[in-house]
Amino acid sequence: MKIVVFGTGYVGLVQAVGMAHFGFEVIGIDIDEEKVKSLKKREIPFYEPGLGEKLREVLDLGKLNFSLDWNGEGEVVFVCVPTLRMKNGECDLRAVKSVFERLVENDFRGLVVLKSTIPPTEMDELEEKFRDKFEIVSNPEFLREGKAWEDFLKPERIVIGVRSAEAFEKMKRIYAKVEAPIFGMSVESAQLSKYASNTMLAARLSIMNEIANIADLIGADIQDVEKVVGSDRRIGSSFLRSGAGFGGSCFPKDVLALDVVARKFDYEPKLIAPIIDLNEEMVDRFVKKIENKLGDFEGVNFGVWGLTFNANTDDVRESPAIKICRNILEKGGILKVFDPRGAENAKKELKGEIEFVENMEDVLPAESLLVLTEWPEFDVDNWKEIGEKLKYKWIFDGKNFLNRDRIGEGGLDYCGIGICEMDVLDLGNSRLD
Ligand code: UGA
Repeated sequence: MKIVVFGTGYVGLVQAVGMAHFGFEVIGIDIDEEKVKSLKKREIPFYEPGLGEKLREVLDLGKLNFSLDWNGEGEVVFVCVPTLRMKNGECDLRAVKSVFERLVENDFRGLVVLKSTIPPTEMDELEEKFRDKFEIVSNPEFLREGKAWEDFLKPERIVIGVRSAEAFEKMKRIYAKVEAPIFGMSVESAQLSKYASNTMLAARLSIMNEIANIADLIGADIQDVEKVVGSDRRIGSSFLRSGAGFGGSCFPKDVLALDVVARKFDYEPKLIAPIIDLNEEMVDRFVKKIENKLGDFEGVNFGVWGLTFNANTDDVRESPAIKICRNILEKGGILKVFDPRGAENAKKELKGEIEFVENMEDVLPAESLLVLTEWPEFDVDNWKEIGEKLKYKWIFDGKNFLNRDRIGEGGLDYCGIGICEMDVLDLGNSRLD
């Protein structure tokens, strides 16, 4: 079976490499000439751990090819182009529609699988226009950037939204080598499942952030609260860590798109928009915390570790770190920043008194150090040494992930989100277990 993947970004490239890894003959199509050139030269134009090696492996086996052009070949097309968020929260479907036009121009008659996240309400229009040409299947992705290859190989589930049993059978054949439960359902249910999963995850984070804000007010410690909440098996312990807001291109876009979908049916969701409102507020609260400790930012030198929205990626889209940096720059602060992978993308986003450095140590000396992404290498053990290069002995952790005990042992004060700033009771528990 020959498979065509439109869009070779974070989702499409994993899909293309993955399908080739399963033995299919795959062609990846993109409109970006530079991207296609780089992929043909066996280089990934972004950072995703493990994907580069796999790409080269399937290229060597002759299973995968990339091209700008397409002549209509293939039995199954995966649509993996971006659906960006517009100002009104709606999804911009221009990229998806232009792929569909291309399919029609080339008289494609196979199966069209949507990986791009599309609001269920938009499907009617797409199907209306293209139904007599090909069947559209929804196969939402649940990949996390930074862990995408791992998630592709060992997904927790595969969701397939179809209109016919034949399409379902074909999709099951495509995923035959993956060990995961396959959920077959209607196209609408598949799409809503994707929105529901991201909304639920984002809501969890916002609820924990709300509780962290309350913890700050009453002098409680959110990391203790997190342990208690997470040890309830009904709740589970992952995705509870508070911080100065979550980021990434998906959560804000999908949560707001779900809100828009509901409103199209005159249903006014009560819980959805506040997830994002609170998330945006977390950045301001974090910056306010820093101001409360250090005072006016005018002319203050900050060292910053971390610019990406998550560790193990070079993606800075909707990154709280970028928003925090912008906020500090607006208030007259001066930044020296380091990120292991995200500097090139961050340079396009940040303008002002800002210096990008090649080594994490080079953000120092500074008046204060901010750690804004949970890259493991930032959880250092030489805090004493670091403290000697800081004027104010505060470490500000926007992701609540550093080892506070070690920071304290190094003679520094720690400031996170929802973390008690009073003397910590030593009850012999390890804080981060
Ligand atoms: C998210 C979902 O996790 C994927 O399942 C989904 O496929 C993807 O969106 C998508 O729709 O394409 P992603 O945005 O790549 O994946 O990254 P996550 O690992 O989910 O992290 C999102 C944000 O939440 C990051 O800023 C991270 O730092 C933050 N986070 C995560 C927390 O603040 N606390 C936590 O406990 C966990």
